[in-house]
Amino acid sequence: MRNSIQREVERFLSPAFRTIQWKGDHLVLLDQRRLPKDEVYLELRTPEEVASAIRDLVVRGAPAIGVTAAMGMALAARSARTRGTKEFLESLDKHYHLLMRSRPTAVNLRWALERQRRRIEALAGSDPDEIQAALEEEALRIFEEDVLTNVAIGEHGAQVVPSDACILTHCNAGALATAGYGTALGVVRSAYRQGKVQMVFADETRPFLQGSRLTAWELQKDGIPVTVITDNMAGHFLQRGEITLIIVGADRIAQNGDVANKIGTYSLAVLAKENQVPFYVAAPLSTFDGTLESGDRIPIEERNGEEVLLWEDMRLAPAGVTARYPAFDITPNQLITGIITEKGVIRPPLKERIRKLLVEE
Ligand code: MRU
Repeated sequence: MRNSIQREVERFLSPAFRTIQWKGDHLVLLDQRRLPKDEVYLELRTPEEVASAIRDLVVRGAPAIGVTAAMGMALAARSARTRGTKEFLESLDKHYHLLMRSRPTAVNLRWALERQRRRIEALAGSDPDEIQAALEEEALRIFEEDVLTNVAIGEHGAQVVPSDACILTHCNAGALATAGYGTALGVVRSAYRQGKVQMVFADETRPFLQGSRLTAWELQKDGIPVTVITDNMAGHFLQRGEITLIIVGADRIAQNGDVANKIGTYSLAVLAKENQVPFYVAAPLSTFDGTLESGDRIPIEERNGEEVLLWEDMRLAPAGVTARYPAFDITPNQLITGIITEKGVIRPPLKERIRKLLVEE
């Protein structure tokens, strides 16, 4: 059974690169800070290294953060398994909290860590080796489910893509932001396979440049046509009718359908409405936060303003000026045409339909 799932998952992973790989006693991450110039893989052996990798954006994108954190818990168990049960469980608890604090907005982090916590609780009284094996198994399951969930999102999403589509996307919601395949780019991949995609426009996505560095990189690797534009060009292309639809990912979706995603998503949604262009969000159910009624309660990560002022060693503004860097913004539900999930496309009224879906889960 397990082997057949692995074979199924493998079919959907890019032969050209791997975002996250579990190697039994360590984790390998493609260092996304260095793309597209250098393709460097980092080996991580401790939960501390995993938490730093998430915080420093070696790995990023909501589902990828969740999968990586789950593997971080498996590493935490491995490094503490020779201790007595009490010390072992204390160590797991400490690393659970460390990983939970690594980034605040993407709810998939909490979702994956809670799955691991439930595994630990279900094995109360078992010895450390058994718990370690269970956490490793759960991490691999989260990885595999993520790929297959993305494929389902891709299949549902392809139905909303008309032929000859020019699709605009923001940030990177692709194989690099997930265990593989992608959410927004999963829809692109499925629609491209059906011959419907003429061009993908990738917003550059200042300041970390996930669009130009990562989305363009992975689409080019897969032979999907991509054109990079700077963030401030989107309105121009929408106004001229050169964009058929917009598809973005999400970091957290509140009960009422308000969406937190990469900074700049909200402006795009406003532009889409003004120009009557459909605006879709693609995300797995693990990105929905059933505890929050609306988006104003979603914590927005504020990164160091220096990241706006510097690109590698180059200073982009006069020394001494300050900058702000909210990493995400909230798109209100009324600007969203539909949310593409593994269960199908949710259309307005989003609030009622999301509630029903979360209750059914
Ligand atoms: O700061 P990042 O790169 O982690 O932000 C990522 C995004 O905003 C993505 O669009 C989102 O996580 C969806 S990924 C499938």
